[in-house]
Amino acid sequence: MFWRSSGISEQSPTLAQATSYLKGIVTEVIREKRAAKEKGVTSGRRDLLDQMMDKDFDDTELFEEVVGFFLAGHETTSNTLMYTVLELCRNPDVHAKLQREISTILPHKESPLTLDNLKDFKYLEQVIKEAQRLHTVVGVVGRNAAKDMKIMGYDIEAGTNINIPIKHIHLDERYWPEPQKFDPERFAEGRAAPVPGSYLPFSDGPHNCIGSKLAFIEAKVVLIQLLRQFDVELIPGQTFKYKNGVTTTLENGVRVKLGLKNKGCDDNFGVQSVVEE
Ligand code: HEM
Repeated sequence: MFWRSSGISEQSPTLAQATSYLKGIVTEVIREKRAAKEKGVTSGRRDLLDQMMDKDFDDTELFEEVVGFFLAGHETTSNTLMYTVLELCRNPDVHAKLQREISTILPHKESPLTLDNLKDFKYLEQVIKEAQRLHTVVGVVGRNAAKDMKIMGYDIEAGTNINIPIKHIHLDERYWPEPQKFDPERFAEGRAAPVPGSYLPFSDGPHNCIGSKLAFIEAKVVLIQLLRQFDVELIPGQTFKYKNGVTTTLENGVRVKLGLKNKGCDDNFGVQSVVEE
């Protein structure tokens, strides 16, 4: 069902080849770890795979978990970064304000970025949150009703598949005035929290994202290190088109120029629009 909904046939030879390639790599890592463990060799650091191997997972279950983490964690975070950079390029005032926050918290080239001071980057958090709202990376999540229920007056029978259209909720003007406007102030301290259920970049409930904190750490570190050194600017002449797959990405990505901070890359920031598929 997953592959079909992504427009890929389960019989596709390319899919079979890709799966077998991935399986080969992951199985080899698991095999090496098991062999090292049997010999009592440890690297000193216990990663997630070490911890899962202490549990009762067989190799197939371990493979599925590892691939799940890899797929769930990689493309989602990289797309979030891409959209944030796009909006920084299109909103020079936000770009400048963010660089001011970075140089206040990290005034010197050598000022260390630590897990502790990472939480002081409040404006950066607002910027990422707003990029996640305007460009929803996981546009729809599905659930299957475990029992008969009533939701907002609708009778839902047990066994019904329900799609939750996160992307549309994020652009619904009942919850987000001027929904197409990129405005990190929506998430500023002191502003009313979003209406429950109206902001779901990491979904909600027992199956929500377990990597949201890690994703935020990754995104913050990358953006801080980028913007403390460089100005980012769009290469002119690009048009942007969403491409829906497991995650929503941009067909041709975003091409940017980097210039040394405050020296600029060019004299004008290109403002371009995202075109729906
Ligand atoms: C900005 C980055 C990310 C976004 C937007 C994102 C989004 C999501 C969403 C919407 C779901 C929920 C699916 C549902 O409700 O059915 C989900 C689930 C999940 N995510 Fe993430 N995710 C991100 C990063 C990560 C990272 C870094 C990891 C781990 C390294 C991760 C691991 C997972 C896993 C394992 C699940 C499945 C949870 C379950 O089914 O119980 N995600 N993610």
